[in-house]
Amino acid sequence: MERSPLKCLFVSSEVVPFAKTGGLADVIGALPKKLREQGVEVRVVMPYYSKIRNQFFEHDSHFLTSFDVYLGWRVQGVGVYFDDTLLPTYFLKSDTYFSRPELYGYQDDYERFGFFCKAVLEMLRHIDFIPDIIHCNDWQTGPLCLLLKEMYSRDTFFSKIRTVYTIHNMKYQGLFGREALNVLDLNNDYMTPEKIEYHGAVSYMKAGLLYSDKITTVSPTYAEEIKTYEYGCGLDRLLGDKLYYKIEGILNGIDYDVYNPQTDPHIYKNYTWRSIKRKQENKKQFQLEYGLEEKDCMLIGVVSRITDQKGFDLMKDTVDKLWVMDKIMQLDVQFVILGTGEKEYEDMFKHFAYKYPNRSNVFLTFNEPLAQKIYAASDVFLMPSLFEPCGLGQLIAMRYGTVPIVRKTGGLKDTVIHYNSLTKEGTGFEFEECSGYWMYKKIEEAYTYYKEYPEHFRQMQLNGMKKGFSWDDAAKKYIKLYESMI
Ligand code: GLC
Repeated sequence: MERSPLKCLFVSSEVVPFAKTGGLADVIGALPKKLREQGVEVRVVMPYYSKIRNQFFEHDSHFLTSFDVYLGWRVQGVGVYFDDTLLPTYFLKSDTYFSRPELYGYQDDYERFGFFCKAVLEMLRHIDFIPDIIHCNDWQTGPLCLLLKEMYSRDTFFSKIRTVYTIHNMKYQGLFGREALNVLDLNNDYMTPEKIEYHGAVSYMKAGLLYSDKITTVSPTYAEEIKTYEYGCGLDRLLGDKLYYKIEGILNGIDYDVYNPQTDPHIYKNYTWRSIKRKQENKKQFQLEYGLEEKDCMLIGVVSRITDQKGFDLMKDTVDKLWVMDKIMQLDVQFVILGTGEKEYEDMFKHFAYKYPNRSNVFLTFNEPLAQKIYAASDVFLMPSLFEPCGLGQLIAMRYGTVPIVRKTGGLKDTVIHYNSLTKEGTGFEFEECSGYWMYKKIEEAYTYYKEYPEHFRQMQLNGMKKGFSWDDAAKKYIKLYESMI
C-alpha cells in the first residue's frame, strides 16, 4: 500500500514575498516549495500583517474561517485567510496584533506572538489539514512547541504531531517579562532555569529548544558553534550538555531560478560561466548609472543588513594608523554597499561615500533589483560577519561569479573555500581572526590576484559559479529528518 504523503506545516513570522526583515523570510519563501516538489504536502502559516492586505491577493474572497483564541484572561478573535497562488498559505488576521507598520519591536511582542502560536494550533481544528510535522522557526514560534507538548498533545487530535524548531539566529531570543506566562496560560513552575526562565526573563527561544522534538540550525558549523561560549548567546551549556542529541545542522540553499545571472531581468547583461566575460559589462553600466568613475578597477560589493552581526566594526579598526576603510580605499578599488540597519554604521558608510566620491557609494535602503545589479557588477563580495548562521549573500555572490571574502564562521565556513593557487581549487578568501587587519589582508590578497593573476581570479569565479547551493539537497535532508520522526 502506498503511504500517504508526509504533511508539514511551516510556521513563520515572515515569508517572502509577503513580509521580510531578514534571511528567515527567504528560507520560508523557498524551502517549502522544494519540499512540495519532492512530494511533501506542505503548507505555510504566517500573521496577516496589514501591509499584506490587497497587495498580493483579493482580500475578501480569501476568507476561510474565524474563531476565538483564549490568552489568559483575554479572548481575541482571529480570521483565517488562505491563498495558494504560490504555495498553500494561511494568513492569521488580528487587527489588534498585526495591523501595525512594523513586524516586530513592540512592547507587547510577547502577546502578539504568543497569540500567533496559540492561534496556529487552534486553527488546526478548523481546517482540513492535520500535519505530521509542524516546522517552527525562531523565537516567534518557540511557544508553539511548548504549548503542543505540554497541553495540546493530551488531546488525541494533536498527539501524533511532531515539531521541528529551526534556529536562524541565536542572538534574537524573544526575552520577555513574567506577563508572558499569563498569555500562554503557564503557571510559575515554568519560571525555572530547567524550563523557560533565562536570567529572570521568559525565553521564547528556550520554549522552542526544550519542547521541540528536533532542533535544526542552518549550517553544520553553526550547529557546533552554538554549543560554545563564544557563539551560544548564554544557551551553550543547555545545547551542548542537554540537547545535543536532537540538534542537526542543515545548510540553506538559494533559489536557483531567482538568482540566475543567465535570466535575471534586473541585471544589465545576462551571462553564464561560459560567457563570464560579459559580467564586465555589468560593472561598466553600474558605474555609469550610479556615479562611479568608469574604469576597470576591483569593485567591492556589500549587500547586507547593516548591523553589528555583519562585522562592520572591523572597518573602524586601524592598520598602519589608518582606518581599515581608508586603507582599503588606498588600493585601486571602488566600494558599494546596499542595506539598512543601525544608524552608527549607516553614518559611517555615508561618511566614506562623501569622502571618496566617484569611488564609493552607499544605498541605505532595501531594493531587490539594485541588490541583483550589485551582485552582478562587483568583482568581490565582502562579508566579514562576527557570526553567521548560514548567510545567503555569499551564496548569491558565488552564483554571480563574484568572489566572496568572508570571516571563517558558521555557514560562511561551510560554503566558501579559500583559494589555493597550486591546486586551483577554492572559491574565495577567508580570515579567521576577528580583526580589521586580517580582513584588510584578505582584501589585499584578492586585489593582488585581481590585478596580477587574472587567470587565477577567473578560476575562483568559475569555481564559485559551478558550485551547487540549490535547495534540492537541503530539502532531501529535511525530508529524511521528518521521516525519522513519525
Ligand atoms: C538569519 C541568519 C542568516 C541565515 C538566515 C536564514 O538571517 O543571520 O545567517 O542565512 O537567517 O536562515
